[in-house]
Amino acid sequence: MADITVIGSNMYELTTFVDRMPVEGETVEAPEFEMGFGGKGANQAIAAARLGSQVNFITMVGRDEFGRQQLENYRSNGIRADGIGIADGSSGVAPIFVDTSGDNRILIVKGANKQLTPAALDDKKDLIEGSKLVVLQQEIALETNYHAIELAEEYGVPVLLNPAPANDDLNIDYVSRVAFFAPNETELATLTGMPTGTLDEIKAAARNLVRRGVGNLIVTMGGKGALWVSADQELLVPAVTVEAVDTTGAGDAFIGSFAHYYTQGEDVPTALSHANRYAAISVTRRGTQKAYPTAAELNDLLLERVQA
Ligand code: RIB
Repeated sequence: MADITVIGSNMYELTTFVDRMPVEGETVEAPEFEMGFGGKGANQAIAAARLGSQVNFITMVGRDEFGRQQLENYRSNGIRADGIGIADGSSGVAPIFVDTSGDNRILIVKGANKQLTPAALDDKKDLIEGSKLVVLQQEIALETNYHAIELAEEYGVPVLLNPAPANDDLNIDYVSRVAFFAPNETELATLTGMPTGTLDEIKAAARNLVRRGVGNLIVTMGGKGALWVSADQELLVPAVTVEAVDTTGAGDAFIGSFAHYYTQGEDVPTALSHANRYAAISVTRRGTQKAYPTAAELNDLLLERVQA
C-alpha cells in the first residue's frame, strides 16, 4: 500500500541552455544540451519518493528507448512498476529551452501519455485504495482526471489537483470536489476569469474558489512564496530566496514534496514551508528530476547552510 498515488504524465526531456532564443528564420548556436527525465506527474512522484514516501505512479510510457529508460528511472527511485503501462508508439517528450536567468520555455509532445484514458485508469484503480493522497496534474486528458477524482471519492482518498498546464475547459464541479487545489497565479486566473496580478487579487480569486467548495486552495507564486486559503483562514508562506540557475520543474518539486510532508503527518503550514525550501533547492541546480535531492542529500544541504 502506498502513501501517495500520483496519476499523470511522464516526458523525456531534451533541454537546450540558450544565451538567447533565435528569431524567425535565424540559427543561433546554444552553449549546452542535456537529456533527462521529466513530465509533471513523474516529477511530483519522484520528488515524493526521493524524500522517502511510498509512491504509486500511474502513467503510460511508449514502447521505445525513452520508455525503457523511464521504467529504469522509476525502478531506481523506488517507485513500484504496477501502475506503469506500456503503450504502442512513442513516449512523451519535452523540448525545453532554459535562458541565462534560469527561466524556461517548454513544449510537450504527449505521445503515450494520451493513452492514459479513463478505461486504462480503471485497470490500475486498485492502487488508489489505501493511499493517503491522490495527486493529479493536467498533462493527461481532463476526462482521466475527472475519473480519478470519482475513483478517489469511492475509495475515500483525498485528492490534490495541480492544474498545470492551465486548461480553460477544466470543469469547476470537479475542482470543488478536491481537498487541495494548487494552481499558480496564471492557472488561477484561467479558471476563475479573475485578475491575479496582485496579492489582493490572488486572495480574492482564491476566496471565490473556496466559496465554490474547494477545501484548501494553495496558490504557488514562485519567488513570492505560497498562499494557503481555506474556509476559515489565509496564510502566506514566504519563499526561500536563492540564485536560480534552472527553474524547470520547481513547481513539481513543490507539489511532490508538499504531498510527502503532508502525508507524513505535518500540518499544512509546516508542509508548505518545507515544500518552499525543497523547490528553492531544486532551482539552484540544473535539470528537473536531476535537481531533486533525496532526504539524505537534503539533510546534508541543510547542515551545510547551518555551518556556513
Ligand atoms: O513542470 C515542468 C515539466 O513540464 C517538465 O518536466 C516538462 O517535461 C513538462 O512536463
